[in-house]
Amino acid sequence: MKYTFNLQLTSNPKTKPDPSTLKFGKVFTDHMFAMEYSTGKGWHDGRIVPYGPIELEPSSSVLHYSQQMFEGLKAYRTADGRILLFRPYKNAARVNETNERMCIPQLDEELFVESIKALVSVDKDWIPTTPGTSLYIRPFIFANENFVGVAPAKKFNYIIICSPVGPYYDTPGGGLLAASIYVEEEYVRAAAGGTGYAKVGGNYAGAMKAQEKAAKLGCDQVLWLDAAQHSYVEEIGTSNAFFMIGNEVITAPLLGTILPGVTRASVIELLQKWGVNVVERRLAIADVLKAHEDGSLKEIFSTGTAAVISPVGKLQFRDTEFIIGNGGVGELSQKLYSEIYGLQTGRIEDYMNWTVEI
Ligand SMILES: Cc1ncc(COP(=O)(O)O)c(C=O)c1O
Repeated sequence: MKYTFNLQLTSNPKTKPDPSTLKFGKVFTDHMFAMEYSTGKGWHDGRIVPYGPIELEPSSSVLHYSQQMFEGLKAYRTADGRILLFRPYKNAARVNETNERMCIPQLDEELFVESIKALVSVDKDWIPTTPGTSLYIRPFIFANENFVGVAPAKKFNYIIICSPVGPYYDTPGGGLLAASIYVEEEYVRAAAGGTGYAKVGGNYAGAMKAQEKAAKLGCDQVLWLDAAQHSYVEEIGTSNAFFMIGNEVITAPLLGTILPGVTRASVIELLQKWGVNVVERRLAIADVLKAHEDGSLKEIFSTGTAAVISPVGKLQFRDTEFIIGNGGVGELSQKLYSEIYGLQTGRIEDYMNWTVEI
């Protein structure tokens, strides 16, 4: 261990929720990690303290110009009682790509991983053990200088909170469920030169309007198109999108508008290992619909920490609904889910060397 953190345990531990009632991000554990940055001093005072409110002055810079970022990953409890993180160094690298874009100071990757390990160890009894459950970990950094002006702050807070979460799909046994997706042609998520590749709150705030529109149309998520021509597929909601056309699996390239998902990278690496032809290239929505018409569009699925793999059963483009495959869970989607979830939870031996034990 390169870092040590002060520890102040809560004197008022909370009652843990019944695992069968767990939703996403509603309940938080007993403790949080906190650390500050100031110019000249760097990152300092890393500590674990009871989970609770943070005090900000109304002039705190993050409340005005949103200089902030966040991450998301999970800890899983294995059947033999071990605690596993899934590729946390990938999240650590993404923190610094985001920070670089947002004029937020760099955070040592080892500090990031050690701070997560320290907090999860203290709150380890909060990791649920029933199938499909996990501990969601939410690290975030925000500017906290009492200054109303558009300039990078000189002071930041780094905090981690954790939330026990239930299975993503509300199905008997937690099996996959196919989603319906609305192709969004009006609103865009990210433009070239913007912050699409960075994990910053503003990207998500700006996306809510389209999500609301999709929900009104009875769809679960939106399929984002590129900002310049509104014709190339990019992401699905807050996850990366894959399209299987013929024997090719296509995903959008990382050209600055796509979040480089950890699950996306893992899917690409697994498909390559399995000898599947996976390519990162631009794909027009018109070509997706053409492939649907000629029968070569086999599957669409999206990837992310929350659901791992989310199969798409239906695509709505303007007023027309297109059923993908048989409208249910595709074969490749199911295979990828079983393999990645198996590796994450230790049910499959980690031949990819992806997990980090706490
Ligand atoms: C916009 C967006 N794209 C993709 C992803 C998937 O990334 P990951 O696989 O690292 O969870 C996320 C989720 O974090 C996201 O918010």
